[in-house]
Amino acid sequence: MNILLLGSGGRENALAWKIKQSNKVDKLFIAPGNAGTALIGENVNISATDFNALKDFSLKNNVKMVVVGPEDPLVKGVYDFFKNDDQLKSIPVIGPSKVGAQLEGSKDFAKAFMLRNNIPTAAYKSFTAETLEDGYKFLESLEAPYVLKADGLAAGKGVLIINSLDEAKKELKGMLDGMFGDASKTVVIEEFLDGIECSVFVLTDGESYKILPEAKDYKRIGEGDTGLNTGGMGAVSPVPFANEEFMKKVEERIVIPTVKGLKEEGIEYKGFIFLGLIKVKGEPVVIEYNVRMGDPETEAVMLRVKSDFVDLLEGMADGNLNEKTLEVDPRAAVTVMLVSGGYPGDYEKGKVITGLDKVEDSIVFHAGTTEKDGNIVTNGGRVIAVSSYGNNKEEALAQSFKNAKIIDFEGKYFRSDIGFDL
Ligand code: AMP
Ligand code: GLY
Repeated sequence: MNILLLGSGGRENALAWKIKQSNKVDKLFIAPGNAGTALIGENVNISATDFNALKDFSLKNNVKMVVVGPEDPLVKGVYDFFKNDDQLKSIPVIGPSKVGAQLEGSKDFAKAFMLRNNIPTAAYKSFTAETLEDGYKFLESLEAPYVLKADGLAAGKGVLIINSLDEAKKELKGMLDGMFGDASKTVVIEEFLDGIECSVFVLTDGESYKILPEAKDYKRIGEGDTGLNTGGMGAVSPVPFANEEFMKKVEERIVIPTVKGLKEEGIEYKGFIFLGLIKVKGEPVVIEYNVRMGDPETEAVMLRVKSDFVDLLEGMADGNLNEKTLEVDPRAAVTVMLVSGGYPGDYEKGKVITGLDKVEDSIVFHAGTTEKDGNIVTNGGRVIAVSSYGNNKEEALAQSFKNAKIIDFEGKYFRSDIGFDL
């Protein structure tokens, strides 16, 4: 069958790599893709949110399944667009309906969903410009640090954690005044949780579910978890503290009630659920839902999926995921992200990348790259993810760090302490 994958980052390169291993796939198209996905399938120069162009392309190229990488097309309703179109409705879209995508698209929606379904999460209240004074009072009732979240999508920048009450009030007003545009017209203020984070990924067909290997992501730019937040600088799977006892609690208290809640509330969801979790005094608590796979977690997690991934995707689409098997590779898998100098602030693009052909015993996924005049050049903040297997995380990390030094471009930076705290 022909599959169309939407997106252009490291996550999509890793998904493409795994999908292409299946003998069920004839052609794999990636819209718009990057220089790495071009080595696996055929890049198509269409934006992942240009639904009409995706329609024409799908019909002309006999696409039989659409797999959605990033959240944007999901929040904009790509699932519903296909489902409600007579010519497209037989093509399954792997991802939630538009309302389901609100689990990521609106923090207020996600918090209310968790509250209704008794899913553990930080206590919270939501405020708008009309209720600013109540927001101040709520902040006064909390202890520092204060957690302020823009309700809508803010490219990963919409969460502020602030130590002083006065500063928190000022930022609340700023957010409601449009600091993040429409995304912060509603602000969620929540209780601060102190613990260690990990990401858990669930596949669901709306009835049953399978839990993929968990991963820990390193979000800060600087070593020792310092400096600004990024999209993610590396990932490690498995996560030692997410032991069997912890994962059992995650399944019973979070995964099962989430899938059941979606079904009972009539929310169509045949896709990935990403649980951003924090372990507080041994107990799992949900920090956030995302409605897609994580990036860079996917660049580690896909290495650990041994089963035919397309068979699992078909199970999600056809509603028989419970009949499928998910076999997991027991080895450790890690990824180390090479980024452009200056990222997550300003950085330059178009730097020639060398050494890719010298990499041995790692898998290179492209994140922000493109081809120019016969060279592969940088085209984003996060440039290349270097993923490796190992008998343990130390072995896998040593391999990724070795190759991270071989690949080069002007301004290259990576964190050489990924996995340091595990
Ligand atoms: P989110 O976009 O909701 O995942 O938040 C981004 C990051 O902010 C998370 O990965 C956490 O590191 C941090 N964070 C969010 N909510 C809380 C909270 N209630 N307590 C402590 N840290 C938080
Ligand atoms: N790595 C975190 C995310 O994909 O949101």
